[in-house]
Amino acid sequence: MSNQKLKTAVLPVAGLGSRFLPITKSIPKEMLPIIDKPLIQFAIEEAIEAGIEKIVFVTSHTKKAIENYFSINSELEKRLIQSNKENLVEKIHPKYLDKVEFSYVFQEEPNGLGHAILQAKEHVDDEFFGVILADDLLMYEIGCLSQLSNIHHENNSSVIGVFAADPEKISNYGVIDGVLDGNSYKLNNIIEKPKAEEAPSNLAVFGRYILSKEIFNHLENTNAGVNGEIQLTDAIKSLIEKDTVRAIEIMGKRFDCGSKEGYISAIINRSHSIEKYKDALKKID
Ligand code: UTP
Repeated sequence: MSNQKLKTAVLPVAGLGSRFLPITKSIPKEMLPIIDKPLIQFAIEEAIEAGIEKIVFVTSHTKKAIENYFSINSELEKRLIQSNKENLVEKIHPKYLDKVEFSYVFQEEPNGLGHAILQAKEHVDDEFFGVILADDLLMYEIGCLSQLSNIHHENNSSVIGVFAADPEKISNYGVIDGVLDGNSYKLNNIIEKPKAEEAPSNLAVFGRYILSKEIFNHLENTNAGVNGEIQLTDAIKSLIEKDTVRAIEIMGKRFDCGSKEGYISAIINRSHSIEKYKDALKKID
């Protein structure tokens, strides 16, 4: 059992978002709205639900929108109060945001997810930290990081979220090779974007991780892999050789909002859960 609370979450948001061009030319992918709330806010809410106190964004100099979104806009708050719209003040500045500390580190070049995480090294003090990729969205009563956190506290190990992927899509993901051990898998290996016939299982990585701080040493020694990027998967593969890494199958509805299909599905799904939109949706052919 680990008694140490999971306090820090790293949120990499420095990717190019090329699948969503042209919108991502000026709006970060993580700011895309699921109706009225950006993906990044779902991620922050999930982190806070899991007890996170410190959020480290790995961002790029071209992505000021995220920093602006989480800063206080006193002028707008004042105007809303003056026009009797106090209820909207809580919307633009939810109280739960005051419970967390935000910091921003920069990834100068989009050299891959592994490289992005490495930039957060100096901001992680504890033995373990969480990672949330905001474009992987989960809709469920228990947040994804909380689901991982339960396994982490039981085993005091790194934990990765996985899901059973369609066989024809398996080569889009990081794929684990693991054995079921209690209510989680103990990993023997992990492979980034394997060919379908070489995939060790159908269990693909969803963008949630609780990682031992040791991962930074492995990232420092990881060479560019698939797509010429420093892959987090390759560093985890090297971590597995030294340390226990576990995986759990995530419960809930998953949306890969880094793809247009997943993004559209997430919007439709959220619309169905909001009473006042249900009738309007029925009228659409
Ligand atoms: P993706 O693999 O989805 O890449 O990144 P991307 O650049 O965002 O999007 P596409 O593939 O070009 O359309 C997964 C997560 O890792 C972050 C992204 O911001 C996203 O949250 N990331 C990726 C970085 O922070 N830096 C990188 O160099 C790459």
